[in-house]
Amino acid sequence: RAPVTVPHLLGMKARGEKIVALTAYDASFATQLDNAGIDVALVGDSLGMVVQGQSSTLPVTLDEMVYHTAAVARGLHLALLIADLPFMSYRNPDAAAISSARLLAQGGAAMVKLEGAGHVLEVIRYLDEREVPVCAHLGLTPQSVHKLGGYRVQGKGKSEAERLLADAVAVEQAGADLLVLECVPAALAKRITDALRIPVIGIGAGVDCDGQILVLYDMLGITPGKRPRFSKDFLLQNGTIETALKAYAKAVRAGEFPASEHSF
Ligand code: KIV
Ligand code: NA
Repeated sequence: RAPVTVPHLLGMKARGEKIVALTAYDASFATQLDNAGIDVALVGDSLGMVVQGQSSTLPVTLDEMVYHTAAVARGLHLALLIADLPFMSYRNPDAAAISSARLLAQGGAAMVKLEGAGHVLEVIRYLDEREVPVCAHLGLTPQSVHKLGGYRVQGKGKSEAERLLADAVAVEQAGADLLVLECVPAALAKRITDALRIPVIGIGAGVDCDGQILVLYDMLGITPGKRPRFSKDFLLQNGTIETALKAYAKAVRAGEFPASEHSF
């Protein structure tokens, strides 16, 4: 298996091959992801919640993201490595350039992810023009939790849905290479996926996205508290981490995960 690249992901969408993604925060799990044939590893700022025990992703710093990204990079040789730009680290193009440079040059990431459209479009354009691969993130954007008023499904009403579709088209036009869609109705996620040339990776966004991502600790059933509806404990049925990761990859590629009970 050759290392996964940005052009490779575009080709997968064109060929109708599902992209399998998971988060990772350290070298040991990164190697497990590679061994299971996972296509994309994301060092998510969800590490604030599942590793640090914070109640949101907002406290995560750029230094912490670089630290975890570098750890994952040491254990990862095949999957494409994406790192989240943390809260306020991409508030303007200059800040985004410095933050991205650290994640790519010191952390070893191949792509950065950022949340939102609006003023973020200018940031995406700036990074794209400087050859930094960008993953956009729309729908439920956890860094906006205080404005959203909680973690809940987005794009439910007609005008909200049209707005989300327009934002998705806008991030693609601004130069994003990939889009994560979080917690949106499955039918809307399908419309967005069909409308875009770039791959759409869903989490709580139904089975018709070009790929799926889950928080690693959610799909291993070790995140404290209630399991999010869109996640599934793959360790329960499979017994080992290795077989759980392989079962997840197989289920995503077969279009068997997420099922309707994991969708909105
Ligand atoms: O931080 C994270 O883990 C994420 C995924 C849920 C997409 O952004
Ligand atoms: Na994130």
